[in-house]
Amino acid sequence: MTVRMVIDTDTASDDAVALAMALRHPDVDVVAITTVAGNCPVEVSTRNALYTAELCGADVPVYAGAAGPLVVDAQFGTWFHGEDGLGDQGYPLPTRGPELTDAPAALADAIRANPGCILVTLGPLTNVVVALRQAPDIVDLVGRCVVMGGTVNAVGNVTPAAEFNLWFDPHAARAVFASGLPIEMAPWEICRGEAGLDGGEQEALRSLDTPLAHFFLDCNSTAMEAARRQSGTRRMELPDPTAMAVALDKHSIVTGSSQHYVEVEADSPLTRGMSVVDSLNVTGNPPNVEVVTAIDVQRFKQMLFQAAQ
Ligand code: RIB
Ligand code: CA
Repeated sequence: MTVRMVIDTDTASDDAVALAMALRHPDVDVVAITTVAGNCPVEVSTRNALYTAELCGADVPVYAGAAGPLVVDAQFGTWFHGEDGLGDQGYPLPTRGPELTDAPAALADAIRANPGCILVTLGPLTNVVVALRQAPDIVDLVGRCVVMGGTVNAVGNVTPAAEFNLWFDPHAARAVFASGLPIEMAPWEICRGEAGLDGGEQEALRSLDTPLAHFFLDCNSTAMEAARRQSGTRRMELPDPTAMAVALDKHSIVTGSSQHYVEVEADSPLTRGMSVVDSLNVTGNPPNVEVVTAIDVQRFKQMLFQAAQ
């Protein structure tokens, strides 16, 4: 059965690999890609999404969205992904541009036209909350909402308390987590460690010697160096592809998850963007998020290699 998917992304290095995994999956129809500012300015995210779709031979419509957060100032992640978001490899410009419709309207249109679809968010949630405000009915039309973002009260990657996607636009994240969307949260910690490609796996990917295998490695070269400086890892950690694997094959990928009440802090300077997970149900609030706590990393890597063929 073909799965209909809508992807919202701040397309940079790891987003591009996640897009390729979905676009090249035989059982998935990506009906729309919407772009948002985050890793890089939205014009750059849009260009990168179009370029990645072209590499995959996919003519999926791409819609440009929010240029910045709802309230706070934009602080892009080019320090991590490179100025062009794709490791500054000098890739050519895409041959087509985005559609005229803006991303929030496109999200609403795509979800209304494909009830039960999977919405995958790979970046800040600005487009999603604007779409929900403009079209509140869509909250009941989304079958699954897989969010790459947050941590389970764990180590942040942009502040000690927060993961980048929720931190970049904390007010949007707070509203989306409270919206009633059927959120499956893929937190940063399940994307790290063993989930990253070690040196041998990177060499194995390179030895596929396909255009996408080289693209996956090359466009993530800046991010890998930034991650090494940040945490000492020499692995190629791929948060968005990890979340995409959850979306594409939850049954075989997810080996641990639990339902919890999760609230995102929006205003505290210290904990802005923190996903506060009520792990022990001490609030008594009804769960609003399925938190993915463990994945089958070997199965994830098989999916990644399949996408690179
Ligand atoms: O914290 C990781 C997330 O932030 C990923 O989506 C990466 O692309 C960046 O947007
Ligand atoms: Ca991203």
